Amino acid sequence: MQLPILPTGDAAPLPVDLTGGADVPHKHASPPNPRKQKRDRSRSKRRGKLTQAQRDALGLDERWDRFYAQKGVRFYKDRHWLRRELLELMPPAVRDDPMRWCAPLASDGTGVAVDVVPSGGELARMTVGLEAGCGCGSAAFPLLRANDDVFVLATDFSAEAIRLLKSRDEYENQLSSSTRRIHAWVSDVAAPPGDARWAAVEALADALGGLHFLTFVFVLSALEAEQMVAAVRRAARLLRPGGLLFFRDYGAGDLAQRRLDDRGQTDGAGTYERGEGTLARYFSLEEVGDLFPAALFDRVELRHVERDITNRAQGVTMNRRWVQAKFARKGAPPCFEPCAGAPPLAETGAARRRGAPRSSSPVRGADDGGDDAHCGDLAPECGCFASLGFD
Ligand SMILES: C[S@@+](CC[C@H](N)C(=O)[O-])C[C@H]1O[C@@H](n2cnc3c(N)ncnc32)[C@H](O)[C@@H]1O
Repeated sequence: MQLPILPTGDAAPLPVDLTGGADVPHKHASPPNPRKQKRDRSRSKRRGKLTQAQRDALGLDERWDRFYAQKGVRFYKDRHWLRRELLELMPPAVRDDPMRWCAPLASDGTGVAVDVVPSGGELARMTVGLEAGCGCGSAAFPLLRANDDVFVLATDFSAEAIRLLKSRDEYENQLSSSTRRIHAWVSDVAAPPGDARWAAVEALADALGGLHFLTFVFVLSALEAEQMVAAVRRAARLLRPGGLLFFRDYGAGDLAQRRLDDRGQTDGAGTYERGEGTLARYFSLEEVGDLFPAALFDRVELRHVERDITNRAQGVTMNRRWVQAKFARKGAPPCFEPCAGAPPLAETGAARRRGAPRSSSPVRGADDGGDDAHCGDLAPECGCFASLGFD
C-alpha cells in the first residue's frame, strides 16, 4: 500500500474519534446476548478498535494519529533502559551507573530559539543522532537527559505524535536555552529519495559528514515490508561511515504475536493488524540480520531479549520477547567503541522489586527494560501497563 503524503506543518490537535465497533469474529456461534454485545461495543470503543471498513478508509499515519489522540503523550513510558543498552552514547558517570538520576532538560532563560533544523555549525561539537518513528519522544528524552552533548533529530509520520512531543515541557525548555537539544518534525521515514520533508536533514547530515547514530525503537514493525527496506536505505544514507544504528523491536514468539495468531489478525506474510489499525511484525534474528545488508552495515550485536512478566492479580505470566541489534555503517571503524549492555539488573535488588525473576542468565529473565506497553489487542486484559517499565 502506498503511504499517503502528509500535509506540511504541524497539526492541530485531533478530535478523538471513538466510533469504532467490535470486529473480532466470534469463535463459537451462540445466540447473541444483547447485553454482552453492548458491553463488547463499549469496550472496543474505549480501546479504540475500528471495523475493517473504518481501518481501510484511513492511511497508516492517520491510524497512528488517532491512536495518539486517544492514548496521549504518556502511553509509551520513557525508555530509560536505553541508557543501559546504548552505553556507547553515555558519559562515564552514566556508564558506571546507567540507572542513575538524570535531570530533565531545563531552560536557562536565554531567549527563545526558532524551531528549525539547526545548521552544521551549531551542531559541530555535538553527537548528532536521528530517532526515526519517535512517537512522543519516549526514547529521545532519556538519551538527551543522560548526555548533554547529544542532539536528537526526531521524526514521526504521525503529526499528532509530533504535536504531543512538542507539547512536552522539556521540548519548550531546550528552545529557550543557549544550546538546543532536539528538533522534531513530521516525515515518513520510508518516503522515496528526494522527498522534500527530508531535504533539510539530509543537507545537515552531509554538512556533518553523516550522523553519529540512528535509532529504530519499535518502529520497523509498524511498517509494511517494502517500506522497511526503504527506511533502512534512508538510515544508510544519513549515517556517517562507522555510525551506530540501534534496533529494538518485537521478537517472533512474543506473547502478543501468539494472541494475534489465535485471532487470525495476520495477512499470513508476517504482518499483523491490531484492532486499532496499526501494524505489527515479530522479527526473527535472521530477518533482522537480512534487513540490514552486509554491503551497507557491519553487525555489532544481534540477540533476543526476553522477559517473563507476571500479573499476580490475574495469575498470568506473559512471555515477552524482543530483538535487539546494533550495526555500524560500513566504510570506517565504528565511531563508538562497541559496548555490550550493562550486566542484567536481575541480580540486583532493584530488579527484584520490579518483578524480574532471580536469574543469572544475561538474556532470559534479565530486567532489560524492554518496555513496550503497546500490546495492542492484549490490553487491557494483560494488565501489562502497570507491570512494564522502569518508572
Ligand atoms: C510503537 S510506536 C514507537 C514510538 C517510539 N519509537 C517509542 O519508542 O515510543 C511506532 C511509531 O512509528 C511511527 N511510524 C510508523 N510508520 C512510520 C513511518 N513510515 N515513518 C515515520 N514514522 C512511522 C508511528 O507513528 C509510531 O509513532
